[in-house]
Amino acid sequence: MADMQSTNAASPAIIRRQDYRPPDWLVPEIDLDFALDPARTQIRAVLSVARNGAHDRYLKLDGDGLVPLEVKVDGRPLESGEWTLDGGALIIPLTGDAHQIETLVELAPENNSKLMGLYASGGLLCTQCEAEGFRRITFFPDRPDVLSRYSVRMEADPARFPVLLANGDPIEQGSSADGRHWARWTDPFPKPCYLFALVAGDLACNADSFVTMSGREVKLGIWVKEADLPRTGHAMEALKNSMAWDERVYGREYDLDVFNIVAVADFNFGAMENKGLNIFNSRYILADPETATDIDYDGVEGVVAHEYFHNWSGNRVTCRDWFQLSLKEGFTVFRDQNFSADMGSHAVKRIEDVRVLRAAQFQEDAGPLAHPVRPESYIEISNFYTATIYNKGAELIRMMALMLGPERFRAGSDLYFKRHDGQAATCEDFVRAMEEGGGIDLGQFRRWYEQAGTPHVRATLRHDEATQTVELLLEQSMPPTPGQPDKQPMAIPLRTALFDRIGSAHKGEELLMLTQPQQSFTFGGFAEAPVLSINRGFSAPVIVATDRSQGDLAFLSAHDDDPFARYEAMQQLMVNVLVGRIAGQNVDEAAVVAAIRDTVVDPHLDPAFIAEAIRLPSEAYLGDQMAKVDPDAIHIARDALQRRIGQELEPLWRDIHARTKANSFSLSSAAKGARKLRNTALICLVASGVPDGAAVAFSQFDEADNMTERQAALATLANGASDEREAALDIFYNRYRNDALTLDKWFQTQAFALHPDTVDLVEELGRHPDFTLSNPNRVRSLYGAFGGNQWAFHHRSGKGYRLVANCIIALDKLNPQTAARLVPPLGRWCRFDDERAALMRGELQRILAEPGLSKDVTEQVGKSLE
Ligand code: ARG
Ligand code: ZN
Repeated sequence: MADMQSTNAASPAIIRRQDYRPPDWLVPEIDLDFALDPARTQIRAVLSVARNGAHDRYLKLDGDGLVPLEVKVDGRPLESGEWTLDGGALIIPLTGDAHQIETLVELAPENNSKLMGLYASGGLLCTQCEAEGFRRITFFPDRPDVLSRYSVRMEADPARFPVLLANGDPIEQGSSADGRHWARWTDPFPKPCYLFALVAGDLACNADSFVTMSGREVKLGIWVKEADLPRTGHAMEALKNSMAWDERVYGREYDLDVFNIVAVADFNFGAMENKGLNIFNSRYILADPETATDIDYDGVEGVVAHEYFHNWSGNRVTCRDWFQLSLKEGFTVFRDQNFSADMGSHAVKRIEDVRVLRAAQFQEDAGPLAHPVRPESYIEISNFYTATIYNKGAELIRMMALMLGPERFRAGSDLYFKRHDGQAATCEDFVRAMEEGGGIDLGQFRRWYEQAGTPHVRATLRHDEATQTVELLLEQSMPPTPGQPDKQPMAIPLRTALFDRIGSAHKGEELLMLTQPQQSFTFGGFAEAPVLSINRGFSAPVIVATDRSQGDLAFLSAHDDDPFARYEAMQQLMVNVLVGRIAGQNVDEAAVVAAIRDTVVDPHLDPAFIAEAIRLPSEAYLGDQMAKVDPDAIHIARDALQRRIGQELEPLWRDIHARTKANSFSLSSAAKGARKLRNTALICLVASGVPDGAAVAFSQFDEADNMTERQAALATLANGASDEREAALDIFYNRYRNDALTLDKWFQTQAFALHPDTVDLVEELGRHPDFTLSNPNRVRSLYGAFGGNQWAFHHRSGKGYRLVANCIIALDKLNPQTAARLVPPLGRWCRFDDERAALMRGELQRILAEPGLSKDVTEQVGKSLE
């Protein structure tokens, strides 16, 4: 019995979507007064509360770690017996229908290591409230369907905190008698408390402006430490481009007179869309050629756009409850993906996005943490900011946009924004707006929101010479996922084309809707069997298996006019060879080498596309193609193929590497594409084992005038053993040791290296004086990257598992959210052999036995062990 009690006490409450009830009390207005100080901040809050409907329930204001120093109702101080605390929440019985509640609390932001609520980062004070951080600042109904008008007064020491920012518009400022200064900001748009923000600190501003479609001038500011100002140009360009794009593509105009962005060094996630005051992880704001790779530049552009787009998809229309998170995140990712595609290459952007989806979301769908895009339950909502909610959610919007076409999709989104402006909405509201505005029945499509797991589609083509027809048989199935043993058939839109072998063209693409478990489609006019091109553009987030031969795939890799399908054919060609080799079959590698050569020398292809197409599938992706992952066999097979490609085409790699060397840095697509191809050529050349490989890589490292080439050279060297490897790592460290974001790359490159000693090196790096658990970027650079390095992490000794588990245990005491993010790689044990699985489970059990474990880690580890 004692046992049962202790498990009960330890198992945290499950929140269910079914249990949603509208709020008992609304808060139309809130007035906040912050007396800011890192060690001792006092917060006075005045809430106007209004009973919502006829009921007699008390007022419950969420609180997390708060002690009420004063509580007043309508100006009258309450005695301590007149209120109670219930699990952190403040309970006040009220008799009337409208009251004014005043509370006073005190916090020490400098001791807030969770980075949720009000915290200190590099001398700044800043906030992070999504999802449930506001309850760590003041007592409040911390749920997204309570929308309030905010007035915020901040007061601080002007020497340490000369700049005071909050949501909305600045309306007043001044000095107080005691030498402190203050500012008041008001936000005219009612918002949920997760969008509240303030920042105080010694910040410099990159100031600019934007004139909206209706002719209003908006003041833009990007606030950073003075020394970082020269690194804010790219973010500012991205912001202005985003504002123009949302007007042009969605008809959405910005709605306040100021828009501010602040970069902070310590941040749990990428960035946050607080109304009029976005707060960013500095890695998504700061960029210059010396320290940022092209991927970093694209990351800045994409995240700036993402957060800006939230002003409509998230802020003007917010979420009713956190089960609807994908309503804002899926839609906003879809919007930022299309924006980035418009700013650069549609083909390459799609390939990159699918690569991320497969690496992160397909793995999630195939494991113990699989959940629907609209989950049914959670323990800790922070654990649901996942690739499923974000990236699969974006694929759902993309499929709707495809089925509707651009005009009708726009009509649907217009209706959505018009109908729900100022509201807290649901995923169902979005789908209904698409149905009504776009004129389509999305009945069966809704299952995409309900069913977890990745659908499998098997495509078989049968040719009938007599009738000159082909029959395409499509069969779908969906594996069981936790809590969902049986699945209903999905509505799967598949862009499909059939290629004539002669002439290498097709008669037009069709959008096939697969809605049944099995369905066949017949096409006429084929004297000879055509070649199937299916799921073009990756029109549906599914796994397709076809009976296409290596010859057919090689044909498509040379002729498909859909760039994604062309890339996919090439990847499948390589996967077949590698998976075959791992299974001990003697599959012909020559076709792969030939396809790579033909692609590389094709003058019509964009170099960035070539680089994507010829890159071998990652070790992790190869693992996903196997019934049980064998990390060592995968590494050996992939390495051997890479070597052969390097050797057989060596002159080509040397030629490309020399030819793509630029005289000076530029951010044009042509220059970025050249760098991408150059770095790929370097990988191939070094893999070939030529004696001067390390020397060529080192000179690229040494001569580069940009981080894209320097880091790629370092990463290539890091995979091997050479004097150049050690020299380059040393030089890099000494050059960037005082630049945190760039030093992260030093940790990350080593943690990601395909090197037999990586696991030992990571252990050493965990003790390096520059390693710290208090900065999430640094933790992710080392342990996050390592968890994604299949070969090293799954070292058969189990050392890798132990290292990550140790980190989770230590970090959980400081920052549970970031600690919980390290759990998923350990949770994939059932994909591995019995020995590894036992070691992984052992580490999960060790974590779970830790006393005082957070809800965050408990949920992730508990589910991983089920
Ligand atoms: N809404 C933010 C975004 O734009 C992310 C916030 C993450 N917060 C969290 N607790 N996971 O994606
Ligand atoms: Zn977002």
